[in-house]
Amino acid sequence: MQAVLDYLKKNQPRFIQELCDYVRFPSVSAKTEHKQDLAACAEWLLQQHIQAGLSARLFRTAGNPILVSQTPSRNTSPRPHYLIYGHYDVQPPEPLELWKSPPFEPRLAGRSLFGRGASDNKGQNFAHLKAVEAYLKTGTELPCDLTFLIEGEEEVGCTNLGTFLREHRREMRCDAVVISDSGMPDLRHPALTYGLRGIAALEVTVHGPSRDLHSGLYGGSIDNPAMALSQMLAKLRGSSGRIAVPGFYDEVAPLSAFERAQLARLPFNQTAYRKFVGVPRLFGERGFTPVEQRSARPTLEINGLTSGYQGEGSKTIVPAWARAKITMRLVPNQKPGRIARLLANHLKKICPPTVRLEIKSGHGGEPYIVSPASAQARAALRALRAAFGHEPVLLREGGSSPIVNDFKSILGADTLLLGLALPDDNPHSPNEKFDLNCFAKGMLMSAHLWHELARAT
Ligand code: BES
Ligand code: MN
Repeated sequence: MQAVLDYLKKNQPRFIQELCDYVRFPSVSAKTEHKQDLAACAEWLLQQHIQAGLSARLFRTAGNPILVSQTPSRNTSPRPHYLIYGHYDVQPPEPLELWKSPPFEPRLAGRSLFGRGASDNKGQNFAHLKAVEAYLKTGTELPCDLTFLIEGEEEVGCTNLGTFLREHRREMRCDAVVISDSGMPDLRHPALTYGLRGIAALEVTVHGPSRDLHSGLYGGSIDNPAMALSQMLAKLRGSSGRIAVPGFYDEVAPLSAFERAQLARLPFNQTAYRKFVGVPRLFGERGFTPVEQRSARPTLEINGLTSGYQGEGSKTIVPAWARAKITMRLVPNQKPGRIARLLANHLKKICPPTVRLEIKSGHGGEPYIVSPASAQARAALRALRAAFGHEPVLLREGGSSPIVNDFKSILGADTLLLGLALPDDNPHSPNEKFDLNCFAKGMLMSAHLWHELARAT
């Protein structure tokens, strides 16, 4: 083990340079124009995994390639097998003008590495790779078999990974899945996340006239789709922050007193939080704390709203259409399909007859919750404690990782979420960064994890 730790220490500067190379790929899965960049990023990653001493290959899918790599197999008695999941695709970097340096030109400032994808998720999955490289390059025996599964469609809802898992169920069978793709409160509070919210996405278009029309000549005699859509959207939430879609809360599992007590113990400063997000006042469902609102309660958000003329100056038209992109975050026991249907039906009901409604349902993912007291969870907590030198906390988080439910249903494996992102990492926002201390401690955590887990399995 000492050789592993020494190797990690000695090679930090190279790891950081390599992470910069990783971040340089504009692997934006939401945009087809980046398809080649995703392929190039996957190819680069393949070489990285091979150089680390893993046997690796890329699997083509209907979308972006999936990387699978494995530690060299030993013909000994069966050993525990763990799957390390991550993603090399990133969110779109826009709005570009808010970045202090270009999103795909990684910049080091102090202990921060800035760049789109640095934290979500390149830096985090790279930490595991480097820990495993340390074992393989120092000839230190691993107590288990490891398989990396790094995909390129996470940020668009893991389109092809479910099919891949079903087709490769046998090779992927494992004792647990490990994912570092979530957060921790700060470096003194490393975290095991035992719950994630689910998601249901919908795109709503309201069609008006067959083309944009002169608002002086026609306005007043026909409905305005932007107005009609705004009025419909405004009906979806009450002033107390409750979502006003009938049936929306029917399946929501109430928070237990124990969980509320756990969440209340997390370090959280309301004023600092308010200043960090830059709002004049916080807003959320009445009766819940901000920590609960953002991690353990369901939401409905408008992610994008488009209609009419967006250019400079004015253009007097009644637009032909208006569109909203909506996602809802779900908690146990809400089902994405049912919730999406509830919203679609409600919108149909409140849509005026003066416009035509079109609804496209998008990706969905179920909420996830697992026991934080299992032998494996406790092993993970020991690895966190060893690497960070502090007592870990238990988290429920608001983000989604739709694939964790597939790991459970297809492979029968629980997922340990060991996030390395700090609250100010700005994932999905301008100036995303990854903290190099998290990178270093993340490698240490991974190095310890395999022994702790193997002992517990
Ligand atoms: N890493 C995040 C999810 C996350 C963030 C989980 C923080 C827990 C804490 C992931 O890459 C992500 O952003 N996922 C998307 C999924 C969606 C597009 C289906 C999300 O949550 O918006
Ligand atoms: Mn991610």
